[in-house]
Amino acid sequence: MRVLLAGGAGYIGSHTALVLLEAGHEVIVLDDFSNSSPESIARVEGLSGRSVTTITCDLSNLGEAERALQSVEFEAAIHLAGFKAVGESVQSPSSYYRNNIVSTLNLIDVLRAKNVRKLVFSSSATVYGVPQTERIDESHPTAQGLTNPYGWSKAMIEQIIRDVHVSWPELEAVLLRYFNPVGAHSSGQIGESPTGTPNNLMPYVAQVAAGQRERVNVFGDGYPTPDGTGVRDYIHVMDLAEGHLAALQNLKPGVATYNLGSGVGHSVLDVIRAYAEASGKDVPYTVTGPRAGDVSTVIADPTLANQMLGWSAKRSIDDACRDSSRWQEQNPDGLYHVSDK
Ligand code: UFG
Repeated sequence: MRVLLAGGAGYIGSHTALVLLEAGHEVIVLDDFSNSSPESIARVEGLSGRSVTTITCDLSNLGEAERALQSVEFEAAIHLAGFKAVGESVQSPSSYYRNNIVSTLNLIDVLRAKNVRKLVFSSSATVYGVPQTERIDESHPTAQGLTNPYGWSKAMIEQIIRDVHVSWPELEAVLLRYFNPVGAHSSGQIGESPTGTPNNLMPYVAQVAAGQRERVNVFGDGYPTPDGTGVRDYIHVMDLAEGHLAALQNLKPGVATYNLGSGVGHSVLDVIRAYAEASGKDVPYTVTGPRAGDVSTVIADPTLANQMLGWSAKRSIDDACRDSSRWQEQNPDGLYHVSDK
C-alpha cells in the first residue's frame, strides 16, 4: 500500500515509517519540519534501504496542502501532524487549536477529494481526563475535565472524524490512543529530539544520565501509588509503530478506537532506576512538588487492540531505557541541529 504519513518526520512518525517500509509498504512523508528534521527521514531510508518521498508542506494551509498532494497517489493516510506540548498549549491555545484542528480538517478535505478512505489518527490517552478506573479501556468516558488545549484538540479531532464518518460512510478510520511513548529504534539512529527542556520524563532522564542536566525533578511523591510517585503506562515507540501497521492492515468502514499501551504501570522512580541500570550512569533526582494537572495513575487496558488487531506491546521498560540511552549517546544534541549545521 502507498501510505501518506502526515507529520511523518517526527518521533512517532519516523519509527512508524520504518516499520511500514520494512513490511513492504511505500511511504510518503508530509511534514513542515517545524518540530522535526529531514535527517530523520534520511536515517529511515538508511535503515530500511528504501527511499521515502518527502513533501515539505504546512498542512494547516489548505491551498498549500491541496497543491502539494494534487498529483500524489496514495491509498491511506496516517495523521501524526500536530503540536503536542501540554504546557505550551495552555500558553498558546489559539495556535494549538489552529494547527491541530485546521490541519486535520484540511487533511480530511484532501482525502475526500481524492477518495482516499483509509485514515489512522494519532490520538492520546489524554482524552480520558482523570481516570475513573485503575486500568482504562476504550469505553471510559472522554472529553471530561480536560485541563489543556492540547488534550481538547485531540478529543475534538476524534469527534470531527466520527462526524465525518456520518456523512461519508465509506470512511475507514482508526483512532489510536497512545499512552506514554518512550525509547528509540534499537540502532540508535532515530529517536526523540525534544527542543529545549524536555517536557516528558524519559527524555529528561536521558539528558540527566548523559550529564547534560544536573538532576531529575520528581513531580511529587505523595500519590496513592506503591512508592508515592506518578505511575504511567510507558510504551516502546517501536511497539507503538507496529500498532500503526496493525491498525492499517485491519481497517474497515467505520471509526474504531484502540488503546495503544502495554497494560503495565511504572512509577517515576521505577523509570529512573531502570534508566540508571540500562545506561550504567548515575541519575540523581530531587523530589519536588506535584506538577499542575498531573494525575496519580494512568494505565491502559489494551485488550481490544490485542484481540482486534492481533497486536500487543512486546518490549519492556528496560528495553526502552537501553534504546533511549543508545540514541542519546549517539545523538547528544538530537537531530534538529544536524540540518542547522
Ligand atoms: N515527571 C516527573 N519529572 C519530569 C517529567 C515528568 O516526575 O521532569 C513525571 C510526571 O509527573 C508523571 C510522569 O513523570 O508522573 C510522566 O510524565 P510525562 O510528562 O512524561 O507524561 P504525562 O503522563 O504527563 O503525559 C503524557 C504525554 C501527553 C499526554 C499524556 C496522556 O506527554 O502528551 O501522556 O496521558 F497527553
